[in-house]
Amino acid sequence: MRKRVAVIGAGPSGLAQLRAFQSAQEKGAEIPEIVCFEKQDDWGGLWNYTWRTGLDEYGEPVHCSMYRYLWSNGPKECLEFADYTFEEHFGRAIPSYPPREVLWDYIKGRVEKTVVREWCRFRTPVRMVTFDESTQKFTVTAHDLARQKSYSEEFDHVVVATGHFSTPNIPQFEGFKTFNGRILHSHDFRDAMEFKDKDILIIGTSYSAEDIGSQCWKYGCKSVTVSYRRKPMGYDWPDNWLEVPLLQKVENKTCTFQGGTKKDVDAIILCTGYLHHFPFLPDSLRLDTKNRLWPLDLYKGVVWEKNPNLFYLGMQDQYYTFNMFDAQAWFARDVIMGRIEIPSYEKMEANSLQWRQKEEALEDAHQEIDFQGDYVKELVAATDYPTFDVDAVNEAFVEWKHHKHEDIMGFRDKSFRSIITGNMQPEHHTPWVEAMDDSLQSYLPPIKQPVSI
Ligand SMILES: Cc1cc2nc3c(=O)[nH]c(=O)nc-3n(C[C@H](O)[C@H](O)[C@H](O)COP(=O)(O)OP(=O)(O)OC[C@H]3O[C@@H](n4cnc5c(N)ncnc54)[C@H](O)[C@@H]3O)c2cc1C
Ligand SMILES: NC(=O)c1ccc[n+]([C@@H]2O[C@H](COP(=O)([O-])OP(=O)(O)OC[C@H]3O[C@@H](n4cnc5c(N)ncnc54)[C@H](OP(=O)(O)O)[C@@H]3O)[C@@H](O)[C@H]2O)c1
Repeated sequence: MRKRVAVIGAGPSGLAQLRAFQSAQEKGAEIPEIVCFEKQDDWGGLWNYTWRTGLDEYGEPVHCSMYRYLWSNGPKECLEFADYTFEEHFGRAIPSYPPREVLWDYIKGRVEKTVVREWCRFRTPVRMVTFDESTQKFTVTAHDLARQKSYSEEFDHVVVATGHFSTPNIPQFEGFKTFNGRILHSHDFRDAMEFKDKDILIIGTSYSAEDIGSQCWKYGCKSVTVSYRRKPMGYDWPDNWLEVPLLQKVENKTCTFQGGTKKDVDAIILCTGYLHHFPFLPDSLRLDTKNRLWPLDLYKGVVWEKNPNLFYLGMQDQYYTFNMFDAQAWFARDVIMGRIEIPSYEKMEANSLQWRQKEEALEDAHQEIDFQGDYVKELVAATDYPTFDVDAVNEAFVEWKHHKHEDIMGFRDKSFRSIITGNMQPEHHTPWVEAMDDSLQSYLPPIKQPVSI
């Protein structure tokens, strides 16, 4: 009997899994039957933007955490697929920090040309997964939202690729109940124009805080105040941007921070990160971790050690993204297809603990980048995923960090060389601070052909 594999989620990680199997098939291998369950109406995961917040038209929690005017926060050269370049997709070299719609187009491009869409069941959230020790099979219960039908099917393997930047982590601060303005989490932020001429308070100091603050500043908010728990981001911010210690309490519109600073604000945006949330998994199969570079219980960051027929993709905190998901998906595929042997539970656990010890000794972002790079190298070496120069990607990440410290509102104007094609990528036609239209059409206007007279 042909094995059956359930892939849950058709974001970049789930699509990497589909691509991995399809590429083996292309090379003549017999692959298992693949079924990909996706709760949204299209693929692309977070990159598939919706204006909706809260619940969708079916009453399901909205997955999207992306917002209008979101541009890549790192150079695209650091995430380029090793088997499908930007130049191949767009027919030319393009600038290094594309907006969301351009990256969505790229992600889709690699799979659109293949049969894998036939493997996907859209508008179909997975409600439950169980494992039967006696038959060694998983039962996946899914809900076909369009037909309003629930059903269950059996699978030999399950790949969880549901992402972990969708269920907001929402702390509470004294006085929130009586605040005279809007309080929202970054998950529900959509259009920076909402905050034009407003004083905003942002809580958190990571990518969402930095980028949502920058967006609001770019689209004309009156001031940005960022409240930090550990330390300020420390960039050379514009004059109407202030970094203050942690929020202590709110009275009407007045916020008081540790140390006594006060500021009146119109809105509070909680950029306080996300929870790994798998409501469809029983305790025995559920990953329980914070957002970090080495979650435990996953051999090679992918295989569920307590039941190696279950896999997780993309569960780490991420410098590396699309190319790391690829490396993970190729690894999972080869375990499923019997090309890679899984050691004993004790050996897997010991291996993970070694990685965890290394992770705990990391002292700065540069070391973190090298750590994740080493991980990607190890996975790539184990499969036929095309080898690429991971050290060069690490260097590009370091350069990106320097650019941010030189000019936080201008780092997206820099260009990088593609690590895969070796070609220098062009500068964008408009500096990021002046580029208000983030559509694909505006970012990549058609090349004008010379008119012959
Ligand atoms: C605001 C924001 C901006 C980001 N910007 C960048 C960036 O600039 N560059 C970068 O490289 N990365 C960025 N990221 C990181 C992002 O995590 C990855 O780029 C990528 O989207 C992760 O892919 P994924 O497939 O693992 O998860 P997701 O993209 O989250 O996809 C998961 C998929 O699983 C589906 N799903 C969830 N639950 C179920 C269920 N029960 N049943 C069926 N389907 C389900 C979802 O609908 C979704 O389609 C950003 C993240 C956020 C939140
Ligand atoms: N393309 C883009 O421009 C873009 C934009 C936004 C997000 N992203 C991506 O989205 C992902 C998630 O980023 P994120 O910034 O949302 O989450 P994150 O990286 O997990 O950071 C969470 C932040 O919240 C803070 N925090 C958590 N609980 C808190 C509390 N109780 N009080 C105060 N602060 C608290 C943390 O502070 P501590 O440091 O003190 O723990 C940290 O600064 C990243 O992969 C990022 O790349 C990309």
